[in-house]
Amino acid sequence: MYTVIGATGNTGRVVAEELLVAGLPVRVVGRSDERLAPFVEKGAEAMVGDVSDAGFVARACDGVGAVYSLIPIAYNANLREWQGKVGKALAKGIRESGAPYVVNLSSVGAQHHQGTGPIVGLREQEDRLNELSEVDVLHLRPASFMENLYMSLDGIRSMGVLAMPMPADVPIAMIATRDIGVEAARRMTALDFDGHHTRELLGPRDYTMTEVAAIVGAAIGKPDLPYVQVPPEAAAEAFAGMGMHAETIPTLLEMYRGYADEHIVPQEPRSAANTTPTTLEEFADQLAAAYHAQGA
Ligand SMILES: NC(=O)c1ccc[n+]([C@@H]2O[C@H](COP(=O)([O-])OP(=O)(O)OC[C@H]3O[C@@H](n4cnc5c(N)ncnc54)[C@H](OP(=O)(O)O)[C@@H]3O)[C@@H](O)[C@H]2O)c1
Repeated sequence: MYTVIGATGNTGRVVAEELLVAGLPVRVVGRSDERLAPFVEKGAEAMVGDVSDAGFVARACDGVGAVYSLIPIAYNANLREWQGKVGKALAKGIRESGAPYVVNLSSVGAQHHQGTGPIVGLREQEDRLNELSEVDVLHLRPASFMENLYMSLDGIRSMGVLAMPMPADVPIAMIATRDIGVEAARRMTALDFDGHHTRELLGPRDYTMTEVAAIVGAAIGKPDLPYVQVPPEAAAEAFAGMGMHAETIPTLLEMYRGYADEHIVPQEPRSAANTTPTTLEEFADQLAAAYHAQGA
């Protein structure tokens, strides 16, 4: 049996689907029976509960061969506090369950203990799981998600620009979350790691935001779509308008500063092992479909 935390999310959904397609027994974890139902129809067992509860995590991971673990994002909470609370519950629950293998979702930049905003919380979770001497743990450290671009679609429609707090001309590795899920499922079934390891996943190549605007613009039928770097004050205002917790706003701004200063950069040289297939041009087709559907 395999447990997938965050099974309705970007990466967990793919992990669960890959395992089910391979004919393997899967326990999918989330907060809603209804959202987990599509996996149950394909043969999965559903576990509904809250991963900030260590007892629930222990039950969800009981008797399984491997766990896919992640800390869900909660922008409407104090994110760093939330990461600490959930991270501790996950580590305690996994230890109590006796699960022998964990593939843990971390991030590029998790080599640092500071200056990376939410990624500091992911580094702390790597440290917690590394304290589990009986458990073999692989920390996947993916690049920035291409899916983050969904949050920019409204701005493209209303202002005619791709506007983000990222620098325009610093090349940044970007990955489609589908490729993370595929790799996580592959490693959960191969179990080709022992002890505690990290593996960066760097997408197909690095992109500057100027290039991103050109690729997205071409896909949505706005070939001259400009890129505008949003200054921190304006980004803070926009985040507050989205209902983000006041303590979480500076945490996110720290991450964007980390990208701008090239503090958040991969450590592994790019190789076949950390390069993933989906290009931004391919991903942009999905983005364009969402853009046109929203506009209809
Ligand atoms: N965005 C990036 O560029 C980036 C880059 C590197 C790493 N990361 C990290 O990636 C992680 C997010 O991964 P993801 O995008 O695959 O996840 P996601 O899409 O945010 O999904 C997480 C899932 O967890 C479930 N969930 C939320 N709160 C829960 C709770 N209290 N108890 C149980 N389940 C809960 C939700 O399902 P239900 O609503 O159905 O319960 C949700 O679908 C974060 O740790 C983030 O820091 C992000």
